[in-house]
Amino acid sequence: MQANLVNEGLRLLPGALERTAQEILLAAVQNVIRAAPFYRPEMPRSGRPFSIEMTNAGSLGWVSDREGYRYQARHPVTDAPWPAMPAEILDVWHRFSQYPGDPECCLINVYRGDNPKLGLHRDEDEETYEAPVVSVSLGESCKFRIGGLTRKDPTRSLTLHSGDVVVLAGPSRLRYHGVDRILAGSSTLIEGGGRINLTLRRVRP
Ligand code: SIN
Ligand code: MN
Repeated sequence: MQANLVNEGLRLLPGALERTAQEILLAAVQNVIRAAPFYRPEMPRSGRPFSIEMTNAGSLGWVSDREGYRYQARHPVTDAPWPAMPAEILDVWHRFSQYPGDPECCLINVYRGDNPKLGLHRDEDEETYEAPVVSVSLGESCKFRIGGLTRKDPTRSLTLHSGDVVVLAGPSRLRYHGVDRILAGSSTLIEGGGRINLTLRRVRP
């Protein structure tokens, strides 16, 4: 029963975005990166570098450094305000979130180089969990791990491909998830390879 309950609100949408839509999104992301280059966040306390790099678009960006996880209006390296959320990304939010308001944050993760991954975590730094999290995969496929509402709950592994959309809504909004590994050579979308993930979130109530 519990397993059913927790599946409520989890939407896995394989192939939700066709190739042309992926190319349009990637071009929008490349514009963001020109203004707000990828940087390598650090783990709270230890200061250990992440194996992935990040940047953001929107009025608030998610960042991590020795002082902790938080949202802020400026890029931690350039100190410039994050670029505005591209219209193409906003469209994706409205198509898949079924939520009336706009997201303040598009976190952009890039998985490239030596064995990039992202440990099991919940998206819990927002002031509201009312809106869903919408996540878009671009480029190389990955092994994605999805768990339950506590760290000890069983997890399962799925393969996410370019153009797949995952929505964490309602009772699934705070499910644990992470990326175990990238399947190198699995996509031609991004020149030079790698995987980009867009995470769209509402931050404030
Ligand atoms: C994240 O949870 O920040 C990203 C998940 C993903 O890369 O699919
Ligand atoms: Mn996450």
